[in-house]
Formats: sequence, structure tokens, C-alpha cells
Amino acid sequence: MRLVFIGAPGAGKGTQAKRLAAEKGYPIVATGDLLRAAIAEQTPLGQQAHAYIQRGELVPDPLVNQLVAERIATLESFILDGYPRNLTQAQMLETILPQPLSAVVYFEISEDALIARLGGRRICPQCGAVFHITANPSTAGDRCDQCGATLITREDDQPDTIRKRFSVYREQTAPLVDYYRQRGLLRTVNADAPPDAVYQQLLSVLCEST
Ligand code: AP5
Repeated sequence: MRLVFIGAPGAGKGTQAKRLAAEKGYPIVATGDLLRAAIAEQTPLGQQAHAYIQRGELVPDPLVNQLVAERIATLESFILDGYPRNLTQAQMLETILPQPLSAVVYFEISEDALIARLGGRRICPQCGAVFHITANPSTAGDRCDQCGATLITREDDQPDTIRKRFSVYREQTAPLVDYYRQRGLLRTVNADAPPDAVYQQLLSVLCEST
């Protein structure tokens, strides 16, 4: 399946993408993760992207489009998490897709719930596992229960940056919901629900898309 996951920052796209990938074997192309890895490795892309991410702004389209085009060129199935994020990227995606999209899953959630999610998120800088201090804590305390590294807070999970990311989402990404609805591709899940319930909804909407 060729899937796009869209939703506000903290809606649970990454959490559900990892679970679906683990069960079905679909490769994940998560632009946020790829950009953070590029920053950690201090590649030219990472050096260009870093300031945008710190400010909670979108990284310029040409950089992200190229990153995605290189990754999906040879994939028959994938989960695109965090891309496209504006109309220009959505139009670009249509030109680089090897085959049409199967579905676009929209993780619908209220902004109030998101503040608590992002404030309590902890990530593993080594293996990329994602936790939450109350909703999904690591069984190893402040260490990753998968690889043992010390968990960190993402640098863009600070209150001012979170506010900026919400406003970027409302202005640039939210219009994609109608864009994909008009194309008959949109499948909506209630992302306010607990993780297992969201996952069951996800499986159910994907069944309708096969
Ligand atoms: P990115 O990494 O894509 O961030 P985002 O879209 O803001 O999404 P998040 O990763 O914050 O949230 P998520 O929906 O994956 O939630 P998660 O599963 O972690 O992008 C970061 C930056 O990179 C952007 O700001 C931009 O600068 C740049 N960028 C990326 N893509 C780009 C693009 N295409 N173009 C330009 N720039 C781009 O869950 C959040 C927390 O909630 C976790 O703690 C989790 O454990 C918990 N949780 C998850 N589900 C539940 C649940 N059901 N109930 C309770 N808690 C839950």
C-alpha cells in the first residue's frame, strides 16, 4: 500500500506508522525523522534544515521534495509520515509517485489534547523510539526500553515552537484535508482515542482502501 499520514503535530502519526510498519512491513518515509538524522550527522541538508526546525517552520520545499523523491523512487509500498505538508508538496508528490496513492489517513484531534502530548513526549536519539511520560512511558524509566539510550525531549517540543508549528499546520497543511477529500483518498481516524483504539480504526479504514 502507498499511504500518506497527515495530522497536526503530536496527533500520533509516527506512533501509528511504526506500529503499522512493524505488522505489515511497509517502509516508513518520515521526513521529520530523516531531517533530524541529517542534523545529527551534520550533513549539508541537516545544516540547511536545522534553523527551520528550531523555529517550527517548514523546511524549504526543494530540499524536502528531493529527500522524498530519492526514498520512494523504488518502493512499491510505503507510509509517508509528515509529507506532503503543503499544496506545492502534494502536487510534487503526484509527479514523483511510482504508482497512485492507496489512501491518505487523516489523524483528527483537538489542539488541547496535543499540548499535553507534545509536552510529555520523550524520544530515543539512538533508535528513534517514541514515548510519553504518562500515556506511553518507557519501562526503563528515562532510558529507552529498546536500546538503552537516555531519552531526550525533541528541541522543537518547547512551548513557543509548538505554537509556531500549530500555526504552520493550520495555514499550510490543514488545507490538504480537503484536497485529498476531493480526490476520494481521505480516510479519517479519531486520533483523540487511546493508541490501541486508533490502531484498530486505522486497520479498519485501510481495509476499505484495498
Ligand atoms: P515531524 O517530525 O514530522 O513533526 P510533526 O508533524 O510536528 O509531528 P510529530 O512528530 O510532532 O507528531 P506525531 O503526529 O508523529 O506524533 P507522535 O506519534 O510522535 O516534523 C518536524 C519538523 O520537521 C517540522 O516542524 C518541519 O520543520 C520539518 N519537516 C518535516 N516534514 C517536513 C515537510 N514535509 N516539509 C517541510 N518541513 C518538514 O506522538 C506524540 C506524543 O503523543 C508521543 O509522546 C506519543 O507517545 C503520544 N501519543 C501518540 N498517540 C497517542 C494516543 N493515541 N494517546 C495518547 N498519547 C499518544
